Amino acid sequence: QVVLAVNKMDLVDFSETVFSDIDAEFRAFVASIGLENVKSVPISAKKGDNVVSRSANMPWYTGPSFMELLETAETGQGSAGLPFRFPVQWVNRASQDFRGFAGTIASGTIGVGDEIMALPSNRGSRIKSILTADRELTRASAGQAITLTLENEIDISRGDLLCGTNDLAGTTDQFEATTIWMDDHELLPGRPYLLKIGHRTVPAVVTRLKHKVNVNTLEKQSANSLQLNEIGVCNFSLDQQIAFDPFEENHATGGFIIIDRMTNNTVGAGMIDFGLMRAQNIPWQHLDIDKAARSARKGQKPCVLWFTGLSGSGKSTIANLVEKKLHAAGHDTYVLDGDNVRHGLNKDLGFTDADRVENIRRVAEVAKLFVDSGMIVLVSFISPFRSERRLARSLMEEGEFIEVFVDTPLEVCEARDPKGLYKKARAGEIKNFTGIDSDYEPPERADVVLKTADLSAEKVTERLISFLEANDYVR
Ligand code: ADX
Repeated sequence: QVVLAVNKMDLVDFSETVFSDIDAEFRAFVASIGLENVKSVPISAKKGDNVVSRSANMPWYTGPSFMELLETAETGQGSAGLPFRFPVQWVNRASQDFRGFAGTIASGTIGVGDEIMALPSNRGSRIKSILTADRELTRASAGQAITLTLENEIDISRGDLLCGTNDLAGTTDQFEATTIWMDDHELLPGRPYLLKIGHRTVPAVVTRLKHKVNVNTLEKQSANSLQLNEIGVCNFSLDQQIAFDPFEENHATGGFIIIDRMTNNTVGAGMIDFGLMRAQNIPWQHLDIDKAARSARKGQKPCVLWFTGLSGSGKSTIANLVEKKLHAAGHDTYVLDGDNVRHGLNKDLGFTDADRVENIRRVAEVAKLFVDSGMIVLVSFISPFRSERRLARSLMEEGEFIEVFVDTPLEVCEARDPKGLYKKARAGEIKNFTGIDSDYEPPERADVVLKTADLSAEKVTERLISFLEANDYVR
């Protein structure tokens, strides 16, 4: 609902024509975004015309004052007729034989004896009792804080959504949502965030930014990221199934917030448009020869040596030397190098933050496959952002990800300038160059830190090999 208050009418001699022109123009605009319920009122806040009481200066206007419009507006979504939705806020186990599910009814009504279904787990039961702090009810409705007990013991946990069985919410792990971004750091597709819907918080990534919306013209524009205050339509993919309704059908169960994993700040909010049915009916194919079998034959513990550091820090030089040593000792290895992978798999990517996030996401997935094949993988990418290095670590099993920080100061890298790129970047010929006009976030707790400014490449290589031996990756 929209109230269009046209202010400063005193400056145009309370002209009806000026008001109706603005009114007509605005109505044409909002009609294009599907808003129909618009009420317009001409006001002058300076002297209070039509603000609280009707103004004698505009006899041509016979409608309600601004305050009257606000006071008579229907607040919130008309909840009449919406199905029962109850996000479980916590599970109350007051005694051994008592299990209650506490929360606030998001929509609809519920009565003792009604059938319910817990989503996304798909477990059904019947309402045994409805409790409030001081009494028992036979029915309860939207907005009431209650504790529900059920007729049989089903496994329900915080964050589940209890629904009436006549009209179930959807479940999905992928959906399209209209999203508003509220953080100084842009939203980057591929970067892991947390998504909170109801009382459930799950890891989430934007798999595709379909377009952003120009808020002045409502035009769709293609985009690789969303900046502060921008609105876009995105596909999300979650680590788990959630229960939801499209926002249009139910505001209480169709909205969510996005949380930054590093800072815990709320960085965005969204409205679910609809669930997506991607990659369904693709079970995990069981294969008999597994990682353990493959690595046992190779006599090594598969892992990723993930080299991160500035361009020219020595990542590739060291990776190359380490691989030679391992190879000579009979180990199976493979180097994934930024420059090389960018010629093939990642040749569609450049050096914006968004592209670097995708670059690292892909190479992390490839590294995971190599580790699964039993190899020792050496990844040599600048990988400038903590989030994506953390994502890479999270893809591997405990102990498989070894973060190697090639800690060479910018001055040293720039003095070396093996590819002449720093010179070009300083001359403004290359944009978004790491360390110059694009960020590098050093690791906070790397597994190995190599200071190449103080040690020769050979010494550094020996240190790494000793690390692998001491931790039983190689014999
Ligand atoms: S990353 O930041 O996305 O991890 P990646 O390691 O794949 O970068 O690629 C870095 C290599 O690309 C550098 O070693 C350098 O040779 C080349 N390069 C070209 N342009 C840039 C740039 N703007 N910033 C950093 N490296 C660049």
